[in-house]
Amino acid sequence: MKKILAQTPKTEFSDDCGFTHAGTGLKTCILSASRGLALLTGANPAGAIIRYPLHIFQPRLARPMSITLTPTDRFLSTVDSALRTVFSSHQATQPCPTLAAEATELSAEEKKEAGALMRVNHVGEVCAQALYTAQAFATDSEALRAHFTAAGAEETNHLAWTEQRLKELGDHTSRLNPLWYAGAFGIGLIAGKLGDTVSLGFVVETENQVEAHLESHMNRLPVNDHASRAIVAQMMDDEARHAYNAMELGAMDLPAPVKGVMKAVAKVMTTVAHRV
Ligand SMILES: [Fe+2]
Ligand SMILES: [Fe+2]
Repeated sequence: MKKILAQTPKTEFSDDCGFTHAGTGLKTCILSASRGLALLTGANPAGAIIRYPLHIFQPRLARPMSITLTPTDRFLSTVDSALRTVFSSHQATQPCPTLAAEATELSAEEKKEAGALMRVNHVGEVCAQALYTAQAFATDSEALRAHFTAAGAEETNHLAWTEQRLKELGDHTSRLNPLWYAGAFGIGLIAGKLGDTVSLGFVVETENQVEAHLESHMNRLPVNDHASRAIVAQMMDDEARHAYNAMELGAMDLPAPVKGVMKAVAKVMTTVAHRV
């Protein structure tokens, strides 16, 4: 429920909901989504409560509201995000990209290899959640926090698609996901604390490396695993866009040794996740 107050000395005035009234005094406009009604109360001429259908107010309700979270809110939200990423199953907001016309038929061996590769991709998405959550937590900029949070939400599609594909292949997610999440969160926190341009530079390099890695998977996935390949192709497009967006926001180009360390850490993760 949202409450809006409009104080006016005029005999005719517009309230905060965009309606014109005759009268004076304090007007309270209450938008009640749960009751499907918008109520306007106060000293209107008839002294009555005016009821408007809720749909009249939809444009206003749809307007994004800026909410400033306290440090405690941010901490709890971060813990919540970590628990949901590691321990719950995920719902995509966009349908999983599949090629319906081409049925995927795999041998047992092909399924096993596809499962191992999709597990690696799923771990990458667990790490993406950890990184974006940590970087959103670390920054002092509300705008950048909103950007990281939105990017993390978009990565949830990748998490859900790879999770679903693993189920279809009869395989499992990595048993070390809590460990991957914790490691990536720590790295994201350090990157975030080094400043916004460094943090964004870290995003660019991570997304570039993930894109290159996904491209290598396109060469390793069974040729007729159309379902997995469609997911990976869509993820590649998305990761390239994430890198571009971070560059547009002023990311710095990280020094070559830092990029080298990031590649080495990613190599350890992908090698282990392929098996466990
Ligand atoms: Fe992703
Ligand atoms: Fe991404």
